[in-house]
Amino acid sequence: MIQKLKNEKALFKFYNSLKSDIPYCFDVDYDNWYTSMFQDTDYDNEPLFHNVHTYVSVDKNKITGFIQFGLPTFIHGENGARDTETTAGIIRNLYFQQGDEQAGRELIRQALAFFETNRTQRIFAFYHYFGMTCNAGHGKLHSSHFYIETLLSEYGFIKEHENVYYKRLISNAESLCDNTVELKYSAVNTKGLCLFDIIAQSKKVGAGSFVFLPQGKICYLKWIYIEDEFKKKGYAIAALQHLFSDLKRQGIERIDTDTADGNIAAQGLYCKAGFANMGRTRSYEMRSEKNSGLLESMASFFTSRVDGYDEHMLTNCEGCCDGYIKMAALVPKNTKALLDLGCGTGLELDEIFKVLPDISVTGIDLTQAMLDKLREKHPTKKLNLICGSYFDVEFEKDKYDCAVSFETMHHFSHKMKTELYKRIYKSLNTDGIYIECDYMVENQSEEDFYYSELERLRKEQNISKNEFYHYDTPCTIDNQIAILKEAGFVKIAQVYRQGNTTILTATR
Ligand SMILES: C[S@@+](CC[C@H](N)C(=O)[O-])C[C@H]1O[C@@H](n2cnc3c(N)ncnc32)[C@H](O)[C@@H]1O
Repeated sequence: MIQKLKNEKALFKFYNSLKSDIPYCFDVDYDNWYTSMFQDTDYDNEPLFHNVHTYVSVDKNKITGFIQFGLPTFIHGENGARDTETTAGIIRNLYFQQGDEQAGRELIRQALAFFETNRTQRIFAFYHYFGMTCNAGHGKLHSSHFYIETLLSEYGFIKEHENVYYKRLISNAESLCDNTVELKYSAVNTKGLCLFDIIAQSKKVGAGSFVFLPQGKICYLKWIYIEDEFKKKGYAIAALQHLFSDLKRQGIERIDTDTADGNIAAQGLYCKAGFANMGRTRSYEMRSEKNSGLLESMASFFTSRVDGYDEHMLTNCEGCCDGYIKMAALVPKNTKALLDLGCGTGLELDEIFKVLPDISVTGIDLTQAMLDKLREKHPTKKLNLICGSYFDVEFEKDKYDCAVSFETMHHFSHKMKTELYKRIYKSLNTDGIYIECDYMVENQSEEDFYYSELERLRKEQNISKNEFYHYDTPCTIDNQIAILKEAGFVKIAQVYRQGNTTILTATR
């Protein structure tokens, strides 16, 4: 059984039982582990994630596996620079027992549903720096767990990078310092990061950085380099030996590092400096189905996802949970008749009924399975549910005090929306209000990208323009406002935005 993590202490215990095989899962106390798992920051104390979720697989009340995924605040772009505009998602941790691939599949599906809702374009697994790191800034999948890779590949993940991991004990290392070079250290920052310059004959010939891991007697060497003109003079090995003896004096017993599998020079240096090869590590990447996969028809998309739909929207879709409450608060208190377009399982109605239990609702949705769920949740409410497309179903004129739509309009062209909004306008009575909560973007280029991708996919898959297929084509907030104006609405306001989830109100 898969469930949202409720007991962090139990996961801590489980995590500790796994780490003996993974050289970069260090011994830390619960508080340090908790921070690293759930509130992790980079070396400048900036958060690594803005939306992170953890699920566990459980058998007879015992954790047997877990997954942690989320949206990163940045990823490293092609040239290593930080890309903060990223639409990437990250599976940070994934563990299931070898032979229990079924649990692994269920855990992965949980993450993929989250990425689908959050429209991620690329998904990384064990992304360097975000993975099963526990403080060292290294989190690729270790070779002792490569069976997990087999399952990732089932879902279309391919290898992104491969590294070699090294460790060197320095507790009983002889004093190696040969004074060919001098190291000039910066102050250690609050995350334990220290930079150093390598000086030879009074000149800076290179630099490096390392981190003091909390609690342990371990340091992690992040990088070291020698300027091109000073290479092949033995400065790198001299610098490492100098570093070992300086750290040894400070009570450090072990230093770890890693390097790319193709970096033969660095591997040679680490071997010469006495590091032991602790195995290979890999990260993975998948381009989401949006870019390559088959489009699914709207109704079959939602029918196959109806189980677990509510929980998924409430927990994984940024801004939705609060958005439902906000929408309910915006429905005028004197509303007697409400039109809900694309009502689905009625998550917005769950909140609206709390405030206005007696209203009559006309709900229109393409997907019968979603409507069945809504009826099941609210058997005694005044619900007139119509299974059909709101582009086809007639709306009664001057009938409704309020019309709403939640996360359903981001699949259609400007033209279709304009015509639909004109009909919504006419269905409202004189002071009526239309409240739309939807996925909206800020830049025209983003909007253009999604429309052109949809066009490409439709052409490739020979799908006619008249069929409804599930593919997100969010509009910019400005365009949404302009379309509502064109349809006749007078006063239009943006009243809420969390992530890309945005609420606009439009009055007659
Ligand atoms: C993401 S769900 C939102 C459901 C609900 N409003 C909520 O927020 O949970 C989108 C819903 O819109 C429905 N839908 C999409 N296009 C539609 C159309 N042309 N006419 C009626 N319903 C449509 C889908 O069947 C689905 O139930």
